[in-house]
Amino acid sequence: MNFIAIWLLIRILIGRFTTLTGADLKWVRVSVPQYRIPGDMALLQCDYNLGNDNLYAVKWYKDNEEFFKFLPKARPEASSYSVEGIHVDMKSSNRTTVVLYSLNFKSSGLYRCEVSAEAPSFASAQGEARMEIVYLPKEDPQISGVEREYQIGEMVNLNCTSGKSHPASILHWYVNEQQVLAPGTIIHYPPIQHRHGLSSSILGLRFVLTPKHFVGGSMKIKCIAVLSPVLWMGDKESVVQSLPIKQMREALLLVRSSAPPPPQIHSRLLAVTIIGLIVLYHS
Ligand SMILES: *[C@@H]1O[C@H](CO)[C@@H](O)[C@H](O)[C@H]1NC(C)=O
Ligand SMILES: *[C@@H]1O[C@H](CO)[C@@H](O)[C@H](O)[C@H]1NC(C)=O
Repeated sequence: MNFIAIWLLIRILIGRFTTLTGADLKWVRVSVPQYRIPGDMALLQCDYNLGNDNLYAVKWYKDNEEFFKFLPKARPEASSYSVEGIHVDMKSSNRTTVVLYSLNFKSSGLYRCEVSAEAPSFASAQGEARMEIVYLPKEDPQISGVEREYQIGEMVNLNCTSGKSHPASILHWYVNEQQVLAPGTIIHYPPIQHRHGLSSSILGLRFVLTPKHFVGGSMKIKCIAVLSPVLWMGDKESVVQSLPIKQMREALLLVRSSAPPPPQIHSRLLAVTIIGLIVLYHS
């Protein structure tokens, strides 16, 4: 073994020893709210155990862009950088906590806290967590493609379009209170992308009209838009706070047959009245 190899070995052993005795910075734990709505505040927490080290710096990044740092030896100790979607409340932010206000759609992202120690260890550790800004839809879903008249044997071909939201709403079709799940009947279209990261979902419904669709002379077609980011995200780790948001909005279409109830209406012209997209149903 030459001198360099021995020196490296010693370095490695010292490194191990230091870790074992726990002299260095041990861990960093980040907690960030998983969901927030625009205009909200968010409290970002960075907890760490420095062991025997002294703190050199705490730095916060959003999607790898630094927006806040805290250096105990600097004057002032805390400073912030301009990053889109980030407004730091400097009065409430310190070595463990950063408070953001006026959240907007650009505040969604991956938040990372990086802690580093002073000499001689210069150890550093980091933790990260995602925050998503949820924008609830203001409009009900709209049913389109409705014809003035349908005949038995004709194709009903409708679209349901949800109001703008983030994340995109999940749509479901119901015919006479039964959720439609048949693969050939439900058509998935790509969502419409709007400004500010918002999107509208579109779900198609296609089926051939038969007498059995008319219960007591009418058929009720309904579209429900659900926004459930908790289901949508599906990630479990690094979630400390979560805001349960579940929004449901619906559009209803009532198709009333002017013919007598089935079974004698197979091939006759069936005049149907589109009552509208509002709840009108009573049987
Ligand atoms: C940091 O600020 C938060 C409130 O923003 C406060 O609760 C906490 O005690 C402060 N911590 C330190 C170490 O000053
Ligand atoms: C439903 O929406 C899709 C996608 O925008 C479109 O291609 C299709 O023609 C629409 N169908 C109806 C019945 O409006």
